[in-house]
Amino acid sequence: MADKVRVALVGAGGLCDLVEEKLHATADKFGIERRFTDYKQMIEDTDPQAIYILMPPHHLYDLVVHSLDCKLHVFIEKPPGVTLDQISHLAHRAEQNLCLTIVGFNRRYTPLLRKCKEMVFEHAGSPHQVVSTFYKWHNPPAPYYNGAVDILTSDAIHAVDTMRWMAAAEVDDLAAVVRNHGQNLALSWNALCRFENDCVGVLLTNWRTGGRTHQFEMHGDGISVFCNPDYEAIIHRDGEERAEIITTQEAAGSDENYKYYGFWDQSRHFIDCIQKNHEPESCFADAVRTMELVDRILHTGL
Ligand SMILES: NC(=O)c1ccc[n+]([C@@H]2O[C@H](COP(=O)([O-])OP(=O)(O)OC[C@H]3O[C@@H](n4cnc5c(N)ncnc54)[C@H](O)[C@@H]3O)[C@@H](O)[C@H]2O)c1
Repeated sequence: MADKVRVALVGAGGLCDLVEEKLHATADKFGIERRFTDYKQMIEDTDPQAIYILMPPHHLYDLVVHSLDCKLHVFIEKPPGVTLDQISHLAHRAEQNLCLTIVGFNRRYTPLLRKCKEMVFEHAGSPHQVVSTFYKWHNPPAPYYNGAVDILTSDAIHAVDTMRWMAAAEVDDLAAVVRNHGQNLALSWNALCRFENDCVGVLLTNWRTGGRTHQFEMHGDGISVFCNPDYEAIIHRDGEERAEIITTQEAAGSDENYKYYGFWDQSRHFIDCIQKNHEPESCFADAVRTMELVDRILHTGL
């Protein structure tokens, strides 16, 4: 197993950015010597094994296609594109080029949520009910990126992906309600899902609430977990009066947000997978399933 993986980065002012001040500010901060404004040149000159492409969704596609055709393993942020069609093409292209891929659905990688899921599976076999919530106060209620992508696909997708991940199955049937709440764009997306393993899933997301809250529940025979990866999880077992509480910092062994909110672990997972030649958990093919579910909610929503 190779010790190090050679990685390039596009966007967010890292190794390569179109805006030179951002490029130099970030590269100085991390002591990165080689800097580019042209990602194709960067790939040619540095010959990386993997590339992080940290781009708004409507600027992503061409860069990912080029990187996959250069046989690079690819990390992208959520969402994995603007449409289901785009990520389906990218997943196919990655498979053809034998590239390993990952979408940064970081909620799945938060140490607290992973610990909670493990406890539920250990105690009950699997959950029979999961609840995924994401609330924000999005004011003014403007579309994201001037409307290049809807808000469910761009952001509330975190809750959709985590619901799938908690249930550990695909959705068989669903009923959805999408609402504008008096504005001229959709701002609330809700669904009641039956998963193939009989688990019941509830999705509640709303961008016109009192503020940001992002919580998850998993219930199985004799165990219930109420988890907020920003703070703590409360675990109830077998009707006992006293609940167990685990803080997000305890689970992560760190007070740093990049550690307890899954950013570190998702990247570690990507690099480990490259070294072992394993497909990452949230690879492009898996992200297709999340985007399919997003599409179903958008299109069946009353
Ligand atoms: N997982 C999370 O919690 C989370 C949080 C924030 C953002 N995100 C996602 O991260 C992605 C990026 O968001 P952001 O806010 O960092 O975007 P951003 O617009 O701040 O950064 C993108 C950078 O890419 C540069 N760029 C654009 N085209 C380029 C090109 N061809 N070559 C080189 N550089 C180029 C831009 O100059 C900019 O600096 C989005 O998809 C967003 O949804 C995820």
